[in-house]
Amino acid sequence: MGNLIIYKLSKKNRYLEEIANLLVNNNSTFFGDFSKEKVTRRLEYEVNSKDYIHYIARVNKEPVGFLFVKIRMLNRDYELMVYVKSGQRKKGIASSLIKRAICDAKKNGEEEVCGYIDPTNEISKSLAKKMGFSIDDKIYPFRDGYRASMNL
Ligand SMILES: CC(C)(COP(=O)(O)OP(=O)(O)OC[C@H]1O[C@@H](n2cnc3c(N)ncnc32)[C@H](O)[C@@H]1OP(=O)(O)O)[C@@H](O)C(=O)NCCC(=O)NCCS
Repeated sequence: MGNLIIYKLSKKNRYLEEIANLLVNNNSTFFGDFSKEKVTRRLEYEVNSKDYIHYIARVNKEPVGFLFVKIRMLNRDYELMVYVKSGQRKKGIASSLIKRAICDAKKNGEEEVCGYIDPTNEISKSLAKKMGFSIDDKIYPFRDGYRASMNL
């Protein structure tokens, strides 16, 4: 696969535009719209917010995947959302991103990480199980998905 590096986006990260390209060019629906300017602005906002953490995976320097953490203070969710560029999948990149996020969450004293899985997304279900998450058997009311969680 080449040299896989996982790193965390920081406030002054000069790669924001590159990450926005990854999101936009691959029709990722993470931000709900696809204008590169809007995605870049949103990322700029998020990297300056305590409610988000962003991890990027690079293979041979090219950004190929990301994991966003959204921290919801209200219901204490530490939610992981992961995406890997098609053509780079099934190489362990999502697993590596998740392991890194879990490792940092533990260090920060989090007690649980979670994710919400679209009921039709069998790959995500399989990924969550493989990583050791427990998946609820009922659809979570406000998220239209199954809640997968792991106690740390
Ligand atoms: C889901 C996704 C992130 C997986 O990324 P990936 O880098 O290919 O995942 P990995 O290579 O680390 O695979 C880990 C496990 O996921 C599952 N998995 C991955 N791809 C799979 C596939 N095509 N079919 C079935 N299971 C699959 C397997 O359990 C796999 O373990 P294995 O390799 O031992 O079989 C990627 O397919 C993706 O970006 N999909 C679109 C976005 C999405 O659905 N994100 C999740 C919602 S937040």
